Amino acid sequence: MSHKSDLIEEDILAYLQAHEDKSYLRFITCGSVDDGKSTLIGRLLYDSKLIYEDQLSALESDSKKQGTQGEKIDFALLVDGLAAEREQGITIDVAYRFFSTDRRKFIVADTPGHEQYTRNMATGASTADVAIILIDARKGVLTQTRRHSFIVSLLGIKHVIVAINKMDLVDYAQSVFENIEADYREFAKQLAFENILCIPMSALEGDNITNKSHLTDWYQGPALLPYLESVDVSSDLSDKPFRMPVQWVNRPNLDFRGFSGTIAGGVIQPGDDIVVLPSATRSSVSRIVTYDGDLEEAGPNQAVTLTLADEIDISRGDVICAARAPAEQTDQFAAHLLWMHDDALLPGRQYLLKTANRTVPATVTGLKHKINVNTLVKESGKTLELNEIGVCNLSTTQPIVFDPYNDNRKTGGFILIDKRTNTTIGAGMIDFSLRRAQNVHWQHIEIDKAARARQKHQKPCMLWFTGLSGSGKSTVANLVEKRLHDMGRHTYSLDGDNIRHGLNKDLGFTDADRVENIRRVGETAKLMVDAGMVVLVSFISPFASERRLARSLVEENEFLEVYISTPLEICEQRDVKGLYAKARRGEIKNFTGIDSEYEAPEKAEIELDTSTMTAAEAAEEIVHYLEASGYLEG
Ligand code: ADX
Repeated sequence: MSHKSDLIEEDILAYLQAHEDKSYLRFITCGSVDDGKSTLIGRLLYDSKLIYEDQLSALESDSKKQGTQGEKIDFALLVDGLAAEREQGITIDVAYRFFSTDRRKFIVADTPGHEQYTRNMATGASTADVAIILIDARKGVLTQTRRHSFIVSLLGIKHVIVAINKMDLVDYAQSVFENIEADYREFAKQLAFENILCIPMSALEGDNITNKSHLTDWYQGPALLPYLESVDVSSDLSDKPFRMPVQWVNRPNLDFRGFSGTIAGGVIQPGDDIVVLPSATRSSVSRIVTYDGDLEEAGPNQAVTLTLADEIDISRGDVICAARAPAEQTDQFAAHLLWMHDDALLPGRQYLLKTANRTVPATVTGLKHKINVNTLVKESGKTLELNEIGVCNLSTTQPIVFDPYNDNRKTGGFILIDKRTNTTIGAGMIDFSLRRAQNVHWQHIEIDKAARARQKHQKPCMLWFTGLSGSGKSTVANLVEKRLHDMGRHTYSLDGDNIRHGLNKDLGFTDADRVENIRRVGETAKLMVDAGMVVLVSFISPFASERRLARSLVEENEFLEVYISTPLEICEQRDVKGLYAKARRGEIKNFTGIDSEYEAPEKAEIELDTSTMTAAEAAEEIVHYLEASGYLEG
């Protein structure tokens, strides 16, 4: 039998390839073991005969040994056995199982049902076409039912099967089923499902799984497996306007130039008009080339190479769109964001944002609200912790090409990546472009930085002093500024304590507030450099990430990092403001060096320790550096 092919064990992708003629359906099961989830999956695998012979016999003997189901097979044992294997894989919290029937191939995403596993559920749901939401008939719609449904809806699943399970324990009572169905449909009105099917079932007894059960004669709908075999999800992406992010430009010789990628939405035929974003160049499709020859039509998820009627410039990362309905472009947008990391979201910090086609630096500019996944109630908050979901505004350093997630999950989704560790820390769904992004344009100003600098006869730059409180940053910066001033330089000093009395008065010392503190002062310093000034910035600026951001705001040779590396013990001994003593007594929270981190620079242009030299000597060294490096010419 085909679905017993050895390939399943050896190479599942090759197996799937060999079955291309059958459509496949991805679905996710949501519920806990208590709801009978493992039993249900086990039953589906068993009934479709996709259990290896040896697993099957082990299952039968285990079931008898462990005896939870008498002489019957305990399907939960099968799935739990697979789960144990999976746990050895450490990071994979979503188990994908494959099975097929004569009519369709299936990929089931199975995720742990516990509350903390929002992240895993979302991962599984993001590629699924259908969700099965399990409800225990004795318990009805629970908090977890709402949570699962919300996440599934947020991740764009339109087809939901509500498996009202354990009907055997409520005597297959029609009224129990109908009450739960009514409750669920009422709740689901606030979600974006297109179709909901409620099925009364007993996974344990096999009622309404593969065949209709005579014990629920009153139920008019289909059994689970026949429904999964026939539910039509193909139109979901085919009906959308054509989109294909270009993965590579295929140019084997001078006579052929094709653009390869996987179709992310819509269908395409030779002759169709297209527009390439972001350049907005237009052309039409000549051929749809594949390994198996040219096609007359191609649709979602197909990997193809398009050749165009005109020689136009297209590179990897561009998106080929239907000319009549191109995707949007923006650098500011609202999105739902699911946080996936132990380190909380820091609005203002620069992360990498990866869409279907491009990776660009991005910041969350504001968290509008969080959503309680259990109640769907909006809550206020400044940050998102692991597994929390919020609605945010984001801004990218370059425009991205996108569709709202609700229109296209492939071109509307993104992930956020930590720049330093390269790990995925968030997953987002774009809601809409902010109107201000379209309506605010860059105003050209005739007098530029070079003109302003020429007038002042100086090279503008940012001297960024970083170090612990009490390390001597402000003292040294003050002396440097005096020297520069005496030399006729135009300077300005931005000092942490002072700026926190005005511009940054609203900020405290949490990680999030420090990120914002440095972001604002970085932007301010950038304006001053643009004004042709020599700017001295003295902030603890404890995080490498925000110092890097400040550096990126100006040209390469305009940023000089001055690390005042005076050790903590010395700063604490000095304790000029008495703050270390207070912090040690627990009267100040989040004090840098005590209970808040300081990330020392790795490659500061200048490093000075004021415990081994006087402030005047330190200032002298800096001025020397500026002279030697040509900053004081002109
Ligand atoms: S930063 O970390 O956000 O860069 P900033 O330089 O603006 O800090 O402010 C640091 C100054 O605030 C310190 O010199 C100290 O006088 C004062 N301060 C008050 N509370 C704290 C705290 N919890 N941690 C560090 N500095 C604090």
